[in-house]
Amino acid sequence: MRHNLSDVGALMRDRRSFAPEQMTSRKVHPDIVEEILRAGTWAGNHGMTQPWRFTVFMGEGLEVLREGLPQWHALSAGAAVNPIKMEKLKHRLDACNCVIGLGRVHDPAGRISEEDEAWAVAGAVQNMHLTCTAYGLGAKWTTPGFMGLPEVKQALLLPEQGRVMGLFYVGYPKGDWPSSHRWPLEFVTRWRHTSDEEADRHQLKPTL
Ligand SMILES: Cc1cc2nc3c(=O)[nH]c(=O)nc-3n(C[C@H](O)[C@H](O)[C@H](O)COP(=O)(O)O)c2cc1C
Repeated sequence: MRHNLSDVGALMRDRRSFAPEQMTSRKVHPDIVEEILRAGTWAGNHGMTQPWRFTVFMGEGLEVLREGLPQWHALSAGAAVNPIKMEKLKHRLDACNCVIGLGRVHDPAGRISEEDEAWAVAGAVQNMHLTCTAYGLGAKWTTPGFMGLPEVKQALLLPEQGRVMGLFYVGYPKGDWPSSHRWPLEFVTRWRHTSDEEADRHQLKPTL
């Protein structure tokens, strides 16, 4: 064993999503933000293209999002704009003071599929979220309906061929740290280690 699985497992199970409204106004130190981003860059990626791009919004940089969030919702929703959602978006950043824009770029040689590049970014976000958990920071990855707008890509300073992968809110949580649950393995796993019939009967018996 090269690492303590008990610690790693506890960290994975403790990782929770916190909405920005569930965060306090305590500031996140930029050194910690760097640690979070560095952890992201250690994710696996096909062909070492390292497709993740991060845009950190802190301090005055947050104004771009304070103005942008309701505007982008209005732009993408058109006539179907939801006044409750608008109000919520106007106040999204009342307390939270660190948002990381998530983006990806594509291998210019076209060797790697767009899906693979997107999955690599998802791996990076998981690493980032686990690092937040280790620091006692809450975080949430959101993929709002407006993230395909060119205005959002511009706000994240992504190049023309880049894609927005969402917003990652980071902050110290208010109140208790919640627990969660997951389905037991038998709901999501099939073992094909022997005949189909036996696999059905002993779905979860590994052949060690
Ligand atoms: C790819 C991805 C996109 C997500 N997008 C949203 C989102 O748009 N809005 C939201 O409230 N939560 C979003 N979430 C967070 C999920 O709601 C959250 O992970 C889920 O409820 C499980 O809770 P946990 O992260 O605390 O285990 C997203 C999570 C992932 C992995």
